[in-house]
Amino acid sequence: MNSRFSRRDFLKTGVTVGAATFSGRGRDLLAGTGQGTTAPAGSPRVVSSGNGLRAAEKAMEILNKGGDPLEAVVAGVNIVEDDPNDMSVGYGGLPNEDGVVELDASVMDGPTHTSGAVASIRNIKNPSKVAKLVMERTTHCLLVGKGALKFALAHGFKKENLLTDKAREAWLRWKEALSDRDNWLPAQIKKLPEDLQPVMMTHGTINCIAIDAHGRLAGVTTTSGLSWKIPGRIGDSPIIGAGLYVDNAVGAAGSTGLGEANIRTCASFQVVNFMGQGMSPEQACLKALETIAGKAKLWPQALKLVDADGRPGFGLNFYALNKKGEFGGATMWSGAKYAVHDGRKNELRECAFLYKTKN
Ligand code: GLY
Repeated sequence: MNSRFSRRDFLKTGVTVGAATFSGRGRDLLAGTGQGTTAPAGSPRVVSSGNGLRAAEKAMEILNKGGDPLEAVVAGVNIVEDDPNDMSVGYGGLPNEDGVVELDASVMDGPTHTSGAVASIRNIKNPSKVAKLVMERTTHCLLVGKGALKFALAHGFKKENLLTDKAREAWLRWKEALSDRDNWLPAQIKKLPEDLQPVMMTHGTINCIAIDAHGRLAGVTTTSGLSWKIPGRIGDSPIIGAGLYVDNAVGAAGSTGLGEANIRTCASFQVVNFMGQGMSPEQACLKALETIAGKAKLWPQALKLVDADGRPGFGLNFYALNKKGEFGGATMWSGAKYAVHDGRKNELRECAFLYKTKN
């Protein structure tokens, strides 16, 4: 392996990392995954992204005790926010280009149709808890940066260093490999363990949505966002309608993946809207992805968001749950999974996909 990436190589490859390799032939709207549930309709359900098995377990435990769905999903994702080994969320998340961890999160409560969010918040491990307080204790929907931190401190949150040694080392490797026109020399990468090899841009997030036995829906999305982002960059996770949307009359949807593609299409809102028009959760997720793939063709080449065949060169996933407790997940490029707890079993399921990844 070349011990040094040029800036040009980085830009060429950067946006595709974290997404699938887009060399397979695309297929339109693949048929349903045919996955069912063994649990009776009307029982609680929890749906989460592929890193959300523990979150789904925790949320279901709370729902089974009659707990509030929003409290359940937030308690679920807190496990992952607290985990230093998940480098896409909360403590241990990959930092911005200055080596500082900045977090985004949103929550939405179905029965009251209210939401709260924080963006670009530093030094607070559980942005989802702060987002919930924005919803419950202010008239606002979104607090950012220093204002969000000040609000969290006022509510008794403690300032913490969120940059783990592992995340700092990964950032350092990226910084050292970024250019051959600066004074940073790369480490001897052959001697480095796999997870400290220089990594390009990655994005990861956790979304968790749930319905309880009374038909109350809620959702949360929380993330450290795109790694090595320009300080102040805010992704889709704290944007209601993009990273998360809940309409208690219809259903809930959330997203992980490249936030910019999602923000430009308000896609979680679209997923819920499609379900309202009668589509199944899986069909609705696929339809939103299809819409994004169509719009991506219009985006300037300079954004490097499409491949040579005009297909999206980024990863994006949607998860959806309707009022009847039916659920689905879909991804732009095949291979992603999502977590479902149907009241009896908690397991990872294959996402339906728009394009097939070549193995
Ligand atoms: N979906 C996470 C982000 O783009 O920030």
